[in-house]
Amino acid sequence: MHCIKKVTDDLIWVGANDRRLAMFEGVYSVPNGVSYNAYLLMDEKTVLVDTVDKAVQQRLLENVAVALNGRPLDYLIVQHMEPDHSAAMKELLLRYPGVKIVCNAKTQTMIKQFFDLDVDALIVGEGDTLNTGRHTLHFVMAPMVHWPEVMVTYDSTDKILFSADAFGTFGALNGALFADEVDFNRDYLDEARRYYTNIVGKYGTQVQTLLNKAATLPIEMICPLHGFVWRKNFSDIIAKYMLWSSYQPEERGVMIAYASVYGNTENAAEILASKLHDNGIKTVMFDVSVTPTSEIIAAAFRWSHLVFASTTYNAGIFVSMEALLDDLVAHNIQNRTVGILENGSWAATSGNLMREKLEKCKNLHFLEHTVSLKSSLKASQLPELEAMVQSIAADFPHSTTNTVASKDGKTAVIDPAAMFKLSYGLFVLTTKDGQKDNGCIINTVMQVTASPVRIAIAVNKANFTTGMIAKTGAFNVSILAESAPFRIFEQFGFNSGKDSDKFAQCGYDTRTANGIRYLPQHTNSVISATVTGSYDCGTHTMFIADVTESLILSGEPSMTYQYYFDHVKPKPQPSQEAKKGFACKICGYVFEGETLPADFVCPLCKHGADDFESL
Ligand code: FEO
Repeated sequence: MHCIKKVTDDLIWVGANDRRLAMFEGVYSVPNGVSYNAYLLMDEKTVLVDTVDKAVQQRLLENVAVALNGRPLDYLIVQHMEPDHSAAMKELLLRYPGVKIVCNAKTQTMIKQFFDLDVDALIVGEGDTLNTGRHTLHFVMAPMVHWPEVMVTYDSTDKILFSADAFGTFGALNGALFADEVDFNRDYLDEARRYYTNIVGKYGTQVQTLLNKAATLPIEMICPLHGFVWRKNFSDIIAKYMLWSSYQPEERGVMIAYASVYGNTENAAEILASKLHDNGIKTVMFDVSVTPTSEIIAAAFRWSHLVFASTTYNAGIFVSMEALLDDLVAHNIQNRTVGILENGSWAATSGNLMREKLEKCKNLHFLEHTVSLKSSLKASQLPELEAMVQSIAADFPHSTTNTVASKDGKTAVIDPAAMFKLSYGLFVLTTKDGQKDNGCIINTVMQVTASPVRIAIAVNKANFTTGMIAKTGAFNVSILAESAPFRIFEQFGFNSGKDSDKFAQCGYDTRTANGIRYLPQHTNSVISATVTGSYDCGTHTMFIADVTESLILSGEPSMTYQYYFDHVKPKPQPSQEAKKGFACKICGYVFEGETLPADFVCPLCKHGADDFESL
């Protein structure tokens, strides 16, 4: 019997669930099953987007037949050739011989490889479109997310992104199709993380490329090939993807993974965890011989600090730990602090060997001292363990975070570590008045008190944002990281929010608990604050404000003013004729002339004559 779900008025989910599969791809346990999504677009032409795994092929075929209701199937878009999405293709072609396959050239080659079929496909490439009547489908190549032939499809009519494996989740659908119909963060986020990190974790750069392409599209719905359809609040999952794909930790805390044959290494790991906890540091532990590797990989992507403890075995690393480390290296783990504990009754070698493996990864900071046990931890070695705890604790200043409730009842966290990201740098200041979101670039943010956590910002009075903050008393500061491109400065710094939408180019609508937007990308922290006072500084207003929320977004260094001038701001282009004039040090605007009026204000960034230099 068919089982279909309406996605929109002319889009139908025709996929299927498998709860009998033990190991997805033969490697990953799926105790809650897995869904294989396929979508049928009912336009003037009918279009099926992908098929399903052979285990549930029959259900797809029934679903498609019922949904078509006697109409022919005109197109089959093949976004991904991995057999969990393509296995039903051959049977589908037998039943609908008139269907036209739409795919890219790499996919056509793979169809031949998998099915020994020479198909007369409509070959598409980056930016190509297919009009099906009311809908126009745009094809966007997404190589290595998660195979080289992968492409995604964007329906510009209904603003739907068919995202292939991206934004998928392990776990069968249990009646609900949309992520907003379940408590996703409570019940499914762990499986979304395990899916992402294990399936496409290795390909962070390629995922970032896809995210950047998607950021230019207005998206109202995301239809992945596994798990839920996203139609609301998908900025949360996109923010997670940004962290995972840039190998930045989601949370600050320590993951301890240990391999212990007779319990002595485990005992040392337990004592370490207990001491870390007593220092106010979140800790999770895994016995690598018991917990599936895919869960530990996912945890390694989640936490900021990793400790590996292993006994020595056959003069090497214990087998399950060795397998875990090889898998972690293969999944490209980066940007973590790593501690190592080894054990050996006569010749401990596992410490050095573990470190050698992990040294292949980028940006791992190893704690200087490896704790080395001989058979078991002795009281005389407790100071060594304590030293490891203190080395880690040094990264967690004021390690307890404060949880507060915001006005709208949402929970907000104040992570004091976000204050340590402040520098004489550059920031995107954002605010909201009614439905109007606005923002500008500022260069002055400082912490003024620790209890309560209070900051000061200075904003040019000419900025529209200043008036909005004076009226609403609330703002966010997104701390720009060194990766911030010049376009962010153009977007927020070179025009006024009075007559433009500063967020027009932003594909994401990420907001903190106060409802104000922030930049989740090219930033390392966001600070939300409520104004408690202001001071007239002539050209600028200084706002004093209590911090209501602060979050670390990435481990990237903050962008300093110096870094901006050295690496981001475009250099003046050499010209044939030497021009006389003055260039704005902030945005590069050139005023041509012998003298710069003292009251001159840059027409682009609104900075005064003091910020100009002679050409
Ligand atoms: Fe769900 Fe890469 O296949």
